[in-house]
Amino acid sequence: MGFLSVLSMAHKWIAERAGSGDAVIDATAGGGVDTLALAELVGPKGIVYAFDIQQSALDRTRERLEAAGGHPQVQLLLQDHAGMAEAIAPELGGQVAAIMFNLGYLPGSDQSIVTQPESTIGALQATMGLLRPGGILTCVLYPGHPGGDLEAAAVEAWASALPQLVGQAVLYRQPQRSAAPYLIAVEKRKNG
Ligand SMILES: C[S@@+](CC[C@H](N)C(=O)[O-])C[C@H]1O[C@@H](n2cnc3c(N)ncnc32)[C@H](O)[C@@H]1O
Repeated sequence: MGFLSVLSMAHKWIAERAGSGDAVIDATAGGGVDTLALAELVGPKGIVYAFDIQQSALDRTRERLEAAGGHPQVQLLLQDHAGMAEAIAPELGGQVAAIMFNLGYLPGSDQSIVTQPESTIGALQATMGLLRPGGILTCVLYPGHPGGDLEAAAVEAWASALPQLVGQAVLYRQPQRSAAPYLIAVEKRKNG
């Protein structure tokens, strides 16, 4: 039968903690697969903020949403996810149910446009102030591509240093395949 893929596991953990009417964030919209799944999860009464620094990625995401019926609850934001705390509605601070990162580059496009440790860590630092207690952060890491190993190490160091009272962090990884993508998730414990 096999274990779930890292992305499927991220979606499963999110679906267990977020639902109809919730506010959620896709920090890396890319081709829109995750954005669409989040939109379907929260439904028309929810809200999805989807960030990307490439217009072509947001165009792909919009096309995917339109093909699936539109989903006007999705806001596509052409900006660095490091600014997510300022970009979302102020009243949603401490109320967000899930924040999803899928790091690396957009498949089929310029591979030099890739997530960078500095902005990734900046964005991760904002997540704990945005999530509600019981909410979840998921981050899919790609140690197998150039620079991805350093970024994955930085994210692991950030998660390891997170006080357990703020969030409980877990790793989902295949130890026999060190270059394979893996998942870090953090469940928010309490608002500071
Ligand atoms: C692996 S892809 C995401 C895949 C996507 N979640 C999907 O379902 O198709 C990573 C995306 O992150 C975007 N990205 C890179 N740096 C970023 C940043 N600082 N802020 C927001 N998006 C960024 C890239 O442009 C790329 O589209």
